[in-house]
Amino acid sequence: MPVLEGDRIVAALRGAFVHEVGRKALLQQAAARIRAAGSPYTSVYLYMLHGEELILEAFDGRETDHTVIPVGRGVCGTAVATGQDQNIGDVTAVANYLACNTFTRSELVVLIRRGSTILGQIDIDSDQVDPFTGAEEAEVKKVADALAVLL
Ligand code: SME
Repeated sequence: MPVLEGDRIVAALRGAFVHEVGRKALLQQAAARIRAAGSPYTSVYLYMLHGEELILEAFDGRETDHTVIPVGRGVCGTAVATGQDQNIGDVTAVANYLACNTFTRSELVVLIRRGSTILGQIDIDSDQVDPFTGAEEAEVKKVADALAVLL
């Protein structure tokens, strides 16, 4: 069973949307609710695409210096450049990894897409090695797909 209950988070986000909380609050709620699932979800970052840069618009967990990431750089920028979600079981094995801290061992990036357009991404850091199964990733994708509609 996955740790994350994507459907519950989507329902909460839809509720927030109905109350017209706005983009920033929706992204913040998504980050906080995903992280609230607990381990292996250590920190959650919502990077949104503005031209050729990913901008950190909301996060929950450890702070990061990487508030702007060019497309093509790091795991986050690679996801956009390739159009592929990134599930990095061991970040020490990735040459272009942009480290935020020394505790993070793995990273999952799920793109937020509206049709063929990439709007941004949910970037999750974990202190565990290779914790994100396909089932776990599918739960995160539910949240990403909901944000694509609500933003
Ligand atoms: N590790 C990411 C940078 C973002 S931080 O993890 C929040 C990367 O390699 O793109």
